[in-house]
Amino acid sequence: MFILYLAEHQAQAQQLASTLGVEAFLLANTERKTVLAWAKQGDLAILLAGQIALQPLSKPLPHAVVVDWANKSLLWRLQHGGGRGELIAKACGIKKDSLPTIIDATAGFGKDSLLLASLGCHITLLERSPLVAAMLSDGWQRAAQEPALVTILPRMHLQQGDAKAYLSQLAVEQYPDVVYLDPMFPDRGNTAKVKQDMQSFHVAVGADYDADELLAPALAVAKKRVVVKRPRHAQPLAQQKPSLVYEGESSRFDVYLT
Ligand SMILES: C[S@@+](CC[C@H](N)C(=O)[O-])C[C@H]1O[C@@H](n2cnc3c(N)ncnc32)[C@H](O)[C@@H]1O
Repeated sequence: MFILYLAEHQAQAQQLASTLGVEAFLLANTERKTVLAWAKQGDLAILLAGQIALQPLSKPLPHAVVVDWANKSLLWRLQHGGGRGELIAKACGIKKDSLPTIIDATAGFGKDSLLLASLGCHITLLERSPLVAAMLSDGWQRAAQEPALVTILPRMHLQQGDAKAYLSQLAVEQYPDVVYLDPMFPDRGNTAKVKQDMQSFHVAVGADYDADELLAPALAVAKKRVVVKRPRHAQPLAQQKPSLVYEGESSRFDVYLT
C-alpha cells in the first residue's frame, strides 16, 4: 500500500503516510495510465487529489473508491427512499416518535450511518482501520459542502478505534439505545455481485475474523437492542439466535432485544 499525491496535497499526504506507516510519492498528475504504471509497487494505491481515493492495483476498478455521501444514488435514497420503512430503520426501532441514539460499531464507509442519521438519529461511527477512518473524515468534510446534507452531518460523530475497547470503557450514562454491527463477512456471496467499495474493503482491511467477539460487548451496553447486518444465508453472529429477523433480498438484519 502506498500514497500517490499531487503537489498541493503534500501536507495531507505526509500526515496520512505517517498515520498509516506507508510511503508517499509525488505525482505530476493522476491520469489513470500514470497510476497504473505504479502497479508493480504494491497492491493498493491511495490517491490524494482533493479527496482520499482507493485504487486496488492488482485488480484496478473503473473508478477509484472514495467516501462520497453526496453521490446521486445515495442522495436519491435519502430523499425518496423508504425512510422509516427501510429494513435497517425498522430493525433499529426507528419510529416517528422514537429516534434511538445509535453506535455504529463497524462504520466502514458510513453509508448505513448516514441513512440512520438522515432519519433523525444521533449516531457515533466507530472505525478501527486508520485508512478507512481517514476516508470517513475526508468524506465528512466534502459532504459538508452539499446543501442536502448540512443538517444531517452534525448528528454523525466519527471516532477512530476498536469497537470492543470503546464499548467496554463507556460510562453507563453514555450507553446508546442501539448498537449497530455490520462486520465484513469473509465470503460476501458471488464475486461478480460484490460491489466496488466492498472489493476495496477487502483489499484495504481484509475480513473481520474477530467479528463474533463484538456481540457480547454490544449487548452489554445497548439499552434497547443490537442490530447485526448479515448476508442473507450466513450464520448469525457468534452463532447466537436473534430475537427478531428482518429479511432483505441479499442481506438480513438480526435484532437482539436487550
Ligand atoms: C462491511 S464494513 C461496514 C460497512 C458500513 N455498514 C457502510 O454502510 O459503509 C465493516 C467495517 O467495520 C470495521 N470494523 C470491523 N471490526 C471492527 C471493530 N472491532 N472496531 C471498529 N471497526 C471495526 C472494518 O474495518 C470495516 O471498515
